[in-house]
Amino acid sequence: MTDFVMDSCSVNEKGHLTLQGLDTVELAKEYGTPLMLMDENKIRSICRLYKSSMAESFGQDSVPLFASKALSFKGIYRIMAEEGLGCDAVSPGELYTINASGFDMGKVVFHGNNKTDEDIRYALELGVGRFVVDNTEELEAVNRIASELGKRQKVLLRITPGIDPHTHKAVATGRVDSKFGSAIATGMAESITRAALECKGVELTGFHCHIGSQIFEIQPFVDAASIMMEYISDIKSKTGFIASELNLGGGFGVRYVKEHPHFDYAGAIAELACAMKKIAEGHGIPLPAVMMEPGRSIVAAAGLTLYTVGSVKEIPDMKNYVSIDGGMTDNPRYALYQSQYEAVVANRAAEKAEYVCSIAGRCCESGDLIAENIRLRKPVKGDILAVLVTGAYNYSMASNYNRIPRPPIVMIKDGKPYVAVRRESFEDLVRNDM
Ligand SMILES: Cc1ncc(COP(=O)(O)O)c(C=O)c1O
Repeated sequence: MTDFVMDSCSVNEKGHLTLQGLDTVELAKEYGTPLMLMDENKIRSICRLYKSSMAESFGQDSVPLFASKALSFKGIYRIMAEEGLGCDAVSPGELYTINASGFDMGKVVFHGNNKTDEDIRYALELGVGRFVVDNTEELEAVNRIASELGKRQKVLLRITPGIDPHTHKAVATGRVDSKFGSAIATGMAESITRAALECKGVELTGFHCHIGSQIFEIQPFVDAASIMMEYISDIKSKTGFIASELNLGGGFGVRYVKEHPHFDYAGAIAELACAMKKIAEGHGIPLPAVMMEPGRSIVAAAGLTLYTVGSVKEIPDMKNYVSIDGGMTDNPRYALYQSQYEAVVANRAAEKAEYVCSIAGRCCESGDLIAENIRLRKPVKGDILAVLVTGAYNYSMASNYNRIPRPPIVMIKDGKPYVAVRRESFEDLVRNDM
C-alpha cells in the first residue's frame, strides 16, 4: 500500500514511510518515540487556501481565525501571524501562549462559556480584539470590568441557530440544547442582543455561531449562515442595529481514513457566500465582514505520530493487540469519540497490510486504544508505527496520565526538520510538586 490518506506521505527506496520526502524511520531514530511530526508547508498551504477563498467570496474584510483548541504552542501562532490569520482562544492559558508568541492580540477572539472575572480582566488588559460573549452574566461582567478599565470592548454574541449536524454528539454545538450561547428559538438571543446594545462598556459588532466539528455536509453550514443572516435582518427591523461582523465558527470535516470524503473547503466557502448574499440582497442589509474559525482542517492532515512497537499479543479466535510506547496520553480521540485512523508500519510501508489488530497504548487502562480492527503489515517488537492525521486535537488534548511525559513536536519546513516543542522530561513532571 503506497497510497496514504496524507498526501505528503510516500514510500522511499528502503520501503520506509516518508513525510515531505524525509524518512520517518530515521526521524524516529534521531528524535525518539513517541514523536509528533508536522508538515509546516501543508499548514501554510491550507492557511493560504482559507485566506484566498474567503477574500474571493466574502471580500477583503473577511478573516480566518485559527482555532487554538486544535493545536496550541508558540510556534503555531508565529506561522499564523506570517500567514495573516487571526486566532481564537478559549482560555487564559491559550491567550497567554498567543501573547507569548508575539502575536497581535487585536487579531484574537476570546471564546468560552464560563469566563471568570479574572479571565475577562486578563483578556481586556492584553487588548484582545473581540470577546465572543456567551451569556448574560458574562455580558454584565465584560461591561463592568471594561468600564472600570476605561475601555469599550468589541463584542460578538454567541447565538445558537438550532442546527443538528451529523457528527459525534460530543462535538455538536449548534442545537438549542447546548451549553453554548443563546438560542434564537427561545428568545434568549434577542434579549441578550437588546441588553448588549444598552451596555456602555461594550461595542456590539455582531454575532457568532458554531454548529460543531468534523462535519462533511455543506448544507448544515449553509443553513446556519442563512439563519444568522435572517437573525441579523430581524434584529435590524426590531432595534435598528446593523451587525457589521458575523463569525461562522469552524467545523469543516477532515479525511482521517480513505472512507471519509474529500471536503472542498473553497467550494463550501463559495456556497456559504452565495446563500448569504442572496439573503442580504433580499432583506436590504449589507453583507457583514465574515470571520471563520477553522482548527482541525488547518492542522489535522499535516501531522502524524510515530511510535515504537513493544509487544504483539495474539488471543486465539479473538483479537490481536499491538502495544506501542504512547497512547491515550498523546492521542485520546479514540477513547473519547471512537475516532478512526489509518496506521502504517513505517519501516515496511510498502508491504501489504493484512494483519487485523487493535493498537493499544501503554497506560494502565483497558480503554487506552488508538484503533480497533485496523489492518497493518504484521508488526514485531522494535518496528516503528505511524498513525496518520494526528495534527489536530492530539497534542492539545494530551495529558500526563500515569506520569507519561508529552512527546515533542518536530516540524518539517522545506524538507528540514526542527524541534518546535521539546519532549517533556521527568523533571517537568514534578515541577509543581511541593
Ligand atoms: C467556537 C469554536 N470555533 C471553532 C472551532 C474549531 O472547529 P474545527 O476544529 O472543527 O474547525 C471549535 C471547535 O469545536 C469551536 O468550538
